[in-house]
Amino acid sequence: MTSDNVIVQAFTEMAPQYEDTMNRELEQYWGISYHTFIERFLEQVPITAGDAILDVATGTARIPRALRDRVGADGCIVGLDITPAMLARGRAHGVADGGRAAVHLVCGSALELPFGDATYDGVVCALGTHHMDVPRMVAEMRRVLRPGGWLALADVGATWFWRSVFGRLLLWILMVQYGLEHRSARGKAERDAFANVRTVSEWEALLEEHCFGAMRVQEVRARRPWYPCGLVIVAVASGA
Ligand SMILES: C[S@@+](CC[C@H](N)C(=O)[O-])C[C@H]1O[C@@H](n2cnc3c(N)ncnc32)[C@H](O)[C@@H]1O
Repeated sequence: MTSDNVIVQAFTEMAPQYEDTMNRELEQYWGISYHTFIERFLEQVPITAGDAILDVATGTARIPRALRDRVGADGCIVGLDITPAMLARGRAHGVADGGRAAVHLVCGSALELPFGDATYDGVVCALGTHHMDVPRMVAEMRRVLRPGGWLALADVGATWFWRSVFGRLLLWILMVQYGLEHRSARGKAERDAFANVRTVSEWEALLEEHCFGAMRVQEVRARRPWYPCGLVIVAVASGA
């Protein structure tokens, strides 16, 4: 797994042009912009006015900014991220004005969430899971959700091709090539992430293991079979 230091360095370098970079890359892989992907994802998120929401790996706080009206003045949204420079961009976009849901930005790790058990009605995470120890992250998300609360994830996912023998060989070659071409911290973070994306059935098994049920999954098709696809997953935390 990529170390926290490399992640922070990668996203500190990327922060000033983060949204433009994501627009370009998602257009290339999925043929849609970053903003369209996030908007389609948020349409699937089952928010009720007054909810307390945690956005894990919030980055520049794109998601808290988009959800404020839906949560309303009685709700609250916390955005957590490990990279201070990404949160600073979020603050620069203005998350502190009143009238709508309060947004709090917190610097911390998704693998040790600084919140008590059963604190949130909903947990969201977009484009962040592939950088983390995913089972540990899911366990933490489940811990801070109240029973009956929901989890909504949107990220890159693996297709059947990635699990075929030919696909594995090609990916290994691409990882080596990517590593030689991109020697920056981001290059290292993204190269490590190649090996850390899951298929739909792998996600379903992992979420079931952590007491999530009623899962809904949507796939965003990649433009080439060897590109990662996009996945949107919504699941409900059981009482166990
Ligand atoms: C690709 S950005 C996604 C940002 C945002 N969710 C969005 O959709 O624009 C990935 C973010 O994950 C954060 N991140 C990576 N590992 C993390 C961890 N262990 N804990 C918290 N944040 C983490 C990075 O700092 C970065 O801001």
